[in-house]
Amino acid sequence: HPSIPLPVDLFGAWKNSGGIDLAERTILAETAAAIAASPPPARGRGPGGGPTLTTSEPAVEAGGPPPAPSRTREGVASAIDRASAAFPGWAATPLATRAAILERLADLLEENRIELMALAVKEAFKTIPDALGEVREAADFCRYYALQARTGLAPITLPGPTGERNELRMEGRGVWATIAPWNFPLAIFLGQTAAALVAGNAVVAKPAPQTPEIARAAVRLAHQAGVPEDALVLVTGGPEVGAALTSDHRIAGVAFTGSTPTAKKIAAALLEGNDRPLVPLIAETGGINAMIVDSTALPEQVVADVLTSAFRSAGQRCSALRLLLLQEEIAEGVIEMLRGAMELLILGDPADPRTDIGPVIDQAAYDKLMAYRDSAKAQWIKTVPVPATGLFVPPTMIRIDRPEDLTREWFGPILHVATWKAGTLAETVARVNAKGFGLTMGLHSRIARSAELVEAEARVGNLYINRSMIGAVVGSQPFGGEGLSGTGPKAGGPHYLHRFCAERAVSVDT
Ligand code: NAD
Ligand code: ALA
Repeated sequence: HPSIPLPVDLFGAWKNSGGIDLAERTILAETAAAIAASPPPARGRGPGGGPTLTTSEPAVEAGGPPPAPSRTREGVASAIDRASAAFPGWAATPLATRAAILERLADLLEENRIELMALAVKEAFKTIPDALGEVREAADFCRYYALQARTGLAPITLPGPTGERNELRMEGRGVWATIAPWNFPLAIFLGQTAAALVAGNAVVAKPAPQTPEIARAAVRLAHQAGVPEDALVLVTGGPEVGAALTSDHRIAGVAFTGSTPTAKKIAAALLEGNDRPLVPLIAETGGINAMIVDSTALPEQVVADVLTSAFRSAGQRCSALRLLLLQEEIAEGVIEMLRGAMELLILGDPADPRTDIGPVIDQAAYDKLMAYRDSAKAQWIKTVPVPATGLFVPPTMIRIDRPEDLTREWFGPILHVATWKAGTLAETVARVNAKGFGLTMGLHSRIARSAELVEAEARVGNLYINRSMIGAVVGSQPFGGEGLSGTGPKAGGPHYLHRFCAERAVSVDT
């Protein structure tokens, strides 16, 4: 294929190649110092973690008792009041100015990358390469959406008979709610927010309750870059705050990234009330992502790509590999190599640059994953020892008989393995499709016709052939799923911004 350069300078290739090289050792030293100097996260971490009340925001952080419902509703309503008042002024701000503000924000993210990385490590337990990837992806989103806005949101003149002028305008819809998960607390939080803003909307942004501080830093930088304070209002808290936000009839659209059950709750909330306007929901959710490997694949490459796809970021990526499907003839050999390779994974302090896998996000996630893992003990093929203390879930490989035996997303470093028979590739793809999720899928094969078959049949948003299945690059691999995995459009793709806009066709008889 010809290479298609983007007319904008993005970091994507860096992120995809794993992050830090020797020339960037200073980043490691500076980040380590910033981490050491920064306070521990304000949120509670499971038992013993207390609430952090704030005065200007409506909510309470994770680990504490829920605030009184009336207080949550009032706080959210006042955030929407502020954003509603700011909307007309922001919508009237020239498109070029809004795009330039996003570019300034990208610059500020890079200038403040050490502080942001330290927060990602401390608050979300990101490893240092993952923390750097967060900052780069966030900056990439801002630059990419600025470019897309300039080229894709300008008014278009359309044909018509002589004496008639037809124009299609893309305009902000009003106040968007952006609701984010903890696993990309900067890149996704800011990506969806930046898209809504550059399209001319005001935003009330809600990060996950586990990661409010990095969101707070991102919002501060957005204001510093030139977004008016009331055009972007932060609300923090958990499900009750999200629910108060999505149930307010003034919300003109919701960009949500998180689990499938939460997306369904939001979809239902948006339909409640006879008078409620119909508003768009962009939902990016989870997946039961499979990688299919045939007997022509290069085992060393398979093993490296499985380790990255299943265990990097402690398996806490929506894109992560959950179900490895090995052709029977090669299964035992590949499993044996994987067992050996898993031994080499380094689990430990995420602030230590040598660490491959840090702890999982919180006590609740730890308990759920460990209970599941222990219940599947009889099927373990391999599990890796972990440090004595901390929320470390051992990277684990579990044998299942059939793809159908895995029925839900386990959001951690747990890989399921099953086999398939030669000659049943199409059926195997169909069995994965039948799960109803459609986020990522992988294929390892050196047979061109097999690749063509999977390209044609896979019902997923992102298909990866002969490579790892994580680390979609903004502008190169627009990211997002279908079915139970999401509504589209794809983040970091050319059609994303349009969904945030109202399209207005104006026809004038001149
Ligand atoms: P989650 O669904 O529990 O929470 C996501 C956000 O929704 C949080 O901010 C939460 O407070 C809020 N929320 C919860 N209940 C709500 C309600 N009733 N109304 C409104 N908001 C509500 O997900 P999580 O645990 O934070 O994140 C992990 C999940 O996110 C995984 O399933 C993962 O696959 C998915 N994810 C998907 C993508 C993608 O791009 N497809 C990316 C990252 C994560
Ligand atoms: N966009 C993230 C990835 O591809 C979720 O891993």
